[in-house]
Amino acid sequence: MKRLYMQEVATRDGFQNEATFIDTADKIAMVNALSQCGYAKIEVTSFTSPKAIPALRDAEEVMHSITRKPGVEYTVLVPNLRGAERALGCGVDEANLVMSVSEPHNRSNLRMTREQSFAQLKEVISVIGQGPVAVNVSLSTVFGCPMQGDVALNEVLGWVDRFASLGVRGVTLCDTTGMAYPSQVQALSLAVIQRFPELQITLHFHNTRGMALANTLGALQAGVDRFDSSLGGLGGCPYAPGASGNVCTEDLVHMLQLMGYDTGVNLDGILAASAKLPGLIGHPTPSQILTAGKRLDLHPIPEHLHTLSKQVVSAFTGANK
Ligand code: COA
Ligand code: ZN
Repeated sequence: MKRLYMQEVATRDGFQNEATFIDTADKIAMVNALSQCGYAKIEVTSFTSPKAIPALRDAEEVMHSITRKPGVEYTVLVPNLRGAERALGCGVDEANLVMSVSEPHNRSNLRMTREQSFAQLKEVISVIGQGPVAVNVSLSTVFGCPMQGDVALNEVLGWVDRFASLGVRGVTLCDTTGMAYPSQVQALSLAVIQRFPELQITLHFHNTRGMALANTLGALQAGVDRFDSSLGGLGGCPYAPGASGNVCTEDLVHMLQLMGYDTGVNLDGILAASAKLPGLIGHPTPSQILTAGKRLDLHPIPEHLHTLSKQVVSAFTGANK
């Protein structure tokens, strides 16, 4: 059974996008519940500017108050040096740095050119790299940018290469606005895995155009074994027009388990956690498995069918008398 590594991002990618502020205690309770569900990694929060992302202005308190489960890695998003200092102060396991491979998206999301971002992140990596905290770099819009269009494969590989040379542990290929399609995902994933076999590669899909599960299959065919996903399909990018939720964790895990993959994740556990989300965010989520149930959650046979089948049986037994 092939082992896959699931990384939950709802409390960061999901919560950063919600209009209502989710109480700090609720965030902590959610992370604690998710810690019991078998994830490889949980992206707890984000050390961005509280003016830019007010929804996650309680990052320190959340990070300090969660109960960490051994074996689960706790990562946080870090946009700059100030964010790195804050994250290190909380003893995170991993810092997830972020920049976009598209110039206009990087400018709108991080208010810097890509070169400025790279220079900053290089500094961040040199600071973090001296300690025990791992570094991952999430590259946004690698499958297309809503302002620029396609980003050339060689350009994406070039950015992965620049970060690999700085010694990062992992790189996440992000489909920030759901522009990826399966054959493109397979080709880019394969190119990255073949060229950078030492890197921990994660795929991060948004379901904006309904292709996230199909894209996961494309990535699996290329040999990817690590996926970001968001409970309830929450998420989006505040700086990408029309962006909507991440691939829904329970929908993804449900599919992968049916296909015989070992995700490590307890599906009933995450469904119970997902059922709590609407109460926290004030609206329903796009989770399909929460709505429809698991494939073999059988429903009782309707009463009128019982009556009908009794009639059939008695007609049949009567005929045999
Ligand atoms: N943590 C806390 N405060 C921060 C900070 C951080 N990581 N980075 C900057 N700030 C504060 C500064 O102290 C300054 O505060 P002040 O106005 O009270 O002096 C203010 O934010 C502006 O700082 P500046 O260096 O000019 O940054 P900026 O305004 O250009 O913002 C980012 C840069 C990257 C920090 C900001 O745009 C950001 O956080 N964007 C969100 C990116 C994101 O998470 N996107 C979604 C995920 S992909
Ligand atoms: Zn995302």
